[in-house]
Amino acid sequence: MALPHTPEFRLDNRRALVSGGSRGIGFAAAIALARAGAQVWIIARNAEPLGEAVKTAAAAGLQLNSVVLDITHTGQVASTLAQLPDFDILVNSAGLARHQPFLEVSEENFDAVMAVNLRATFFISQQVARRMKARQIAGSIIHISSQMGHVGGPERSVYCASKFALEGLTKTMALELGESGIRVNTLCPTFIETELSRANLADPVFGRYVLDNIKLKRLATLEDVMGPVVFLASPAAAMITGTSLMVDGGWTAT
Ligand SMILES: NC(=O)c1ccc[n+]([C@@H]2O[C@H](COP(=O)([O-])OP(=O)(O)OC[C@H]3O[C@@H](n4cnc5c(N)ncnc54)[C@H](OP(=O)(O)O)[C@@H]3O)[C@@H](O)[C@H]2O)c1
Repeated sequence: MALPHTPEFRLDNRRALVSGGSRGIGFAAAIALARAGAQVWIIARNAEPLGEAVKTAAAAGLQLNSVVLDITHTGQVASTLAQLPDFDILVNSAGLARHQPFLEVSEENFDAVMAVNLRATFFISQQVARRMKARQIAGSIIHISSQMGHVGGPERSVYCASKFALEGLTKTMALELGESGIRVNTLCPTFIETELSRANLADPVFGRYVLDNIKLKRLATLEDVMGPVVFLASPAAAMITGTSLMVDGGWTAT
């Protein structure tokens, strides 16, 4: 009987691009990818936190390359990517939230959230996937979606709409890019304390609602997303595309 060969979880000789890599989930993803052997580039708008991220990584012996870029400017995304090497892995973590009751949502907040969470993610993915296809790179694209791409949440009509849209985008990208060997998936965390969520989680009523819904009875941590990111990027996930990896402590189990 032939011994099955355990697929590789390492990412040596791979290049990864992480939007929103200066802090929070994107930074954790960048560190996880670098520890797994990938060469990593991180994108954010503000140079100072990017520099801090690079320094923090370097202190742990990990090299990150930083790119100052607002991904909502699609023309600049194209010209910046043209200066960068080909990528095997794209993690789309840049995102924002502006929570309001549905009946009060302003056009400004709707546009701001959709511009980053959906539109910018859509077009940077298009740019990277075009290169992957042209260079015959069997790449992995990972959208950091959310459990809120699978269920509704209070005062989250726009945020949920943006994340459900990412789930649909993922399915069609997987259909169209599969024959090129490019895999596309979402990773869907529950609440993690970051700059994006901190103010909400500080409200005790909201905090109770969150812990009532997470079956494992704790918030997720940045570490909780690191293994799943590496897994989806790696050959160990070679047959996984067009789907969602829930990192939600069971929130969506009911
Ligand atoms: N935290 C949670 O509880 C949670 C749960 C589920 C899903 N998520 C999702 O996970 C992703 C990351 O969230 P997070 O909590 O890590 O947020 P975060 O700490 O606020 O980090 C957001 C990152 O995105 C960058 N960014 C924002 N707008 C950008 C733009 N236009 N162009 C380039 N970079 C931009 C920010 O840097 P600059 O401001 O310098 O640009 C920062 O690096 C988001 O998509 C979020 O929806 C978060």
